[in-house]
Amino acid sequence: MLGVLTGIGGYLPPTVVTNDDLCSTLDTSDEWIVARTGIRERRKVADGASTRDLAVEAGKRALRSAERTTVDAVVLATTSFDRLCPAVAPEVAHLLGLDTVAAFDLTSACSGFLYGLATCNGLIATGVADSVLFIGAEAFTTLVDPDDRNTAPIFGDGAGAVVLRRGEPEEPGALGGFDLGSDGARADLLAIPAGGSRQRSAVGLGFAEVPTNEWYLQMAGRPLYTQAVERMSASSRRALKDADWAVADVDLFVGHQANVRIVQAVAEELGLPQEKVAVNIDRVGNTLAASIPLLLNDCVDRGQLRAGDRVLLSAFGAGLSWGSTTLVWPDVPVETVH
Ligand code: UT7
Repeated sequence: MLGVLTGIGGYLPPTVVTNDDLCSTLDTSDEWIVARTGIRERRKVADGASTRDLAVEAGKRALRSAERTTVDAVVLATTSFDRLCPAVAPEVAHLLGLDTVAAFDLTSACSGFLYGLATCNGLIATGVADSVLFIGAEAFTTLVDPDDRNTAPIFGDGAGAVVLRRGEPEEPGALGGFDLGSDGARADLLAIPAGGSRQRSAVGLGFAEVPTNEWYLQMAGRPLYTQAVERMSASSRRALKDADWAVADVDLFVGHQANVRIVQAVAEELGLPQEKVAVNIDRVGNTLAASIPLLLNDCVDRGQLRAGDRVLLSAFGAGLSWGSTTLVWPDVPVETVH
């Protein structure tokens, strides 16, 4: 017994921030952002709204897609918590009318969707839950310095969700084997230094003394780029081997959307033609844990992903952390994510 994908949904907050919008306050250009990242626009959470609100909307749509009103557990992958404590998932479960089900958050930045799928698969395989609503949701723009041209153009807000149920490995939608990995020696390449126990325990350091930029994301783009291509390629190969698929068996490569050049380079490394590379970063930017479910939803919606297609999923992010898996796409309805 293992997890079988049986529903999917996504949600984007309505506020669109175009590259031209960013140019009014940042020393950048539409040409640079499009050429270096593939991003044309991204979404921004409304003032006063948070990850919770995005997660609830995506969760509703995934439950509708699965034609379910109940699940045994809610798992939320995020790196942009509403508050340091408590977890967001119990409140999301409550707002979805799911009563007192098991609910918790997990954090693995941009690889959160892969780590979360593996975790939910484990809950199902061990009999803890027969069905799980798994949401990747991020209001990450709240953690990005609007005056930093290295990071402000890259990230966007949004949420994507799937419903998993107990099933058999031969069924369409059954999750394949997982390849997961990490490299904590490179933890500082992508980090938000302030706000956690390390900064709080620093002797004599009051909140007023924390340099402003430490409250925001700090990113070393170049080395991350190299790591992303290397790690996602190697991890994808291991997941394909586990599934006993040749590269040519893959109908669609759904890779985390950090930079269009990264997923294109991974495809080139693997020997996958570019037409098999799924892309929606142009309209959403990097939405961390929400990236892969939002992309899957978009691909089904535009007819690029059909029931029976063989899908390779792969992600890479802060930690460093990465993960990959495979699945044969099931016949699930989707709603357009506007
Ligand atoms: O989500 C998973 C984790 N994140 C990633 O995997 C991110 C991986 N990294 C990347 O995607 C790319 O490294 C970036 C898109 C972040 C940056 O692209 P790049 O081609 O690596 O640019 P760079 O940081 O090496 O900067 C090249 C030049 C620099 O100018 P000089 O020093 O060559 O004169 C930057 O100052 O581009 C400049 N630059 C910009 N120019 C205009 C950096 N950001 C901007 C900008 N607009 N927004």
